[in-house]
Amino acid sequence: MSDHKKLRLGVNIDHVATIRNARGGGLPDPVRAAEAAKRAGADGITAHLREDRRHIGDDDIAPLAENIGLPLNLEMAATDEMCAIALRHKPNACCLVPEKRQEVTTEGGLDVRAAGNKLQYIIDPLKQAGIRISLFIDPVAEQVEAAHKCGADIVELHTGTYCHAFHDGDEARMNDELARLQQAAQMADRLGLEVHAGHGLCFDTVGPIAAIPSMVELNIGHFLIGEAIFIGLEAAIIKMRELMQAARAQAMAQS
Ligand code: PXP
Repeated sequence: MSDHKKLRLGVNIDHVATIRNARGGGLPDPVRAAEAAKRAGADGITAHLREDRRHIGDDDIAPLAENIGLPLNLEMAATDEMCAIALRHKPNACCLVPEKRQEVTTEGGLDVRAAGNKLQYIIDPLKQAGIRISLFIDPVAEQVEAAHKCGADIVELHTGTYCHAFHDGDEARMNDELARLQQAAQMADRLGLEVHAGHGLCFDTVGPIAAIPSMVELNIGHFLIGEAIFIGLEAAIIKMRELMQAARAQAMAQS
């Protein structure tokens, strides 16, 4: 039997804040969503403090980091401003992502190879403060290698292209992308990096990603918050976890 890691679910609560911000005021409260996620068995909370504060805001970070009792994975751009905020709140992990103001959501992985030493300037103080460093990258060997070189603890593999291919009904592209994710995960694991994945995952796409033996954490947000409208947030999280565990158990039985 191959060495399957224990699989965790991180729930991204950004889009509870998107709904809140549509009206101003405090409702719905993303902190309450994080509490519900904990009750439903989430292993961690993820929040992306964007430069333009379009969803999560500065005041959300302290209660998410301190009051929930789950590790906080703070997604952020590699900027001085975000580094200072992270050092103030000391989340469990910082996931560095590329950020463009005009994009609807994070469009691609961080180009760690091209960033070279510029990233080090952000990574080093965070690591010295005991914050784990995760780099959100496309499933490409050069990016995995570069992440390892600059001292990251974790790579989070971008599943967006795989999910798009599924929804487009493009099976060939979906299988190609799944193979790239599997290879990148295997390589990262061999280099001693913890492997996470996320972006665009839903009930229909989560299985093959959860089945990757070295996968340790999936970070899922938009779909779960949307599904909460129909079946409730806790039920959506419970179902997602069940699908993840079933896919993992089946993969283990077959290996
Ligand atoms: N992981 C990272 C690095 C992300 O940027 C996002 C989106 O904010 C997610 C996971 C979650 O993606 P989704 O909301 O599509 O589930």
